[in-house]
Amino acid sequence: MTTEPTSGAAGADVHVALADVRMAFGDREVFRGLSCAFPAGKVSVILGGSGSGKSTVLRLIGGLVRPQSGHIFVAGEDVTVLSERQLYGVRKKLGMMFQDGALLDSLTIFENLAFPLREHTTLSEHAIATAVRRRLDAVALTDVDALLPNQLSGGMLKRAALARAIMRDPVILLCDEPFSGLDPISVKRIESLLVRINRRLAITIILVSHHIASTMRMADRVLLLLPSGAVAGSPAELRRSADAQVVGFLSEERDGADDAPNAAADAAAGRI
Ligand SMILES: Nc1ncnc2c1ncn2[C@@H]1O[C@H](COP(=O)(O)OP(=O)(O)OP(=O)(O)O)[C@@H](O)[C@H]1O
Ligand SMILES: [Mg+2]
Repeated sequence: MTTEPTSGAAGADVHVALADVRMAFGDREVFRGLSCAFPAGKVSVILGGSGSGKSTVLRLIGGLVRPQSGHIFVAGEDVTVLSERQLYGVRKKLGMMFQDGALLDSLTIFENLAFPLREHTTLSEHAIATAVRRRLDAVALTDVDALLPNQLSGGMLKRAALARAIMRDPVILLCDEPFSGLDPISVKRIESLLVRINRRLAITIILVSHHIASTMRMADRVLLLLPSGAVAGSPAELRRSADAQVVGFLSEERDGADDAPNAAADAAAGRI
C-alpha cells in the first residue's frame, strides 16, 4: 500500500507517514524533524496546544504546504517530490474538511455538495443528484438541499461540510477540528458519524481535535504534539504514560461536558 514503513503503527499498514520533516514559515520553525505514521483504515487524532502545528500536519499531507526537508508519504506517493500536476492525482484520494468548514455561502447545500462532482467529473445531473442524496443520508441531513449555509445550525453545517468532504469517495479523510464550536450533544453526533464513516467505508481518518475525551473515545491512534516533540500511541498507551508533559496535557485540557454521563447526548448519538 505504501513505499514507506509498512507497519509499526499498531501493526496496521501505514497509509500516511511523515519522515524527518522540517517545516518552517520564515524563521518560525514548527517542526524540526517530525516523524509519524497514520495506519490505514483507522481513526488517528492529532492533539496539541494552539500553534503546535496540528493544522500544518494536515496541510503538509494535502500538499498545500511543502516542508524544507524530509518526506511525506500519502498512499504510497512521496508528495514532497511531486509537481503540482502530480499532486492533483494524490489529492483526488483525499477528502479535506478544514477548520472553517468553507462551504460557499452563495450556493445551496445541494449545489455545494454537487460542486466537486461538477468540477471534476462528467456525471449526469441524475447521477449527481443520487450521489448528493447518498452523502446527505450518510451524515443524517434531510430537507436541506435548497437551504443556504447560513440557514443551517453549527452542527448541521459541520455535517454538510463532512458530506462535501466525502463526495468523491476519498480513501483518506483529513478533518481539522470538526468539533469546534459545537455543544456536547453535537460533538457526540459528529464523532459517531466519523466513526461510522470510518467503519463502513474503510476510510483512513486523520483528524485534529482539542477534545480530549472525544479523542480517547474514538481514536485508534493519537499523535500528541508537545513543545518537546511528538508522542504517538493508542489512547490507552497515552493514558499509561509516565511522561509529565503527556500526563499534564491529558489532564489539563479536559472538555468537561463530554466527560459527564449524559443520557440525552448518548441518545442523540445513537440516533445517527
Ligand atoms: N501560512 C503560514 N505562514 C506563517 N506562519 C504560519 C502559517 N501557517 C501556520 N503558521 C504558524 O505555524 C504554527 C503552527 O500553526 P498551525 O496552524 O499548524 O497550529 P495549530 O496547532 O493548528 O493551532 P490551532 O489549535 O490554533 O488551530 C503557528 O505558529 C502559526 O503561526
Ligand atoms: Mg489549527
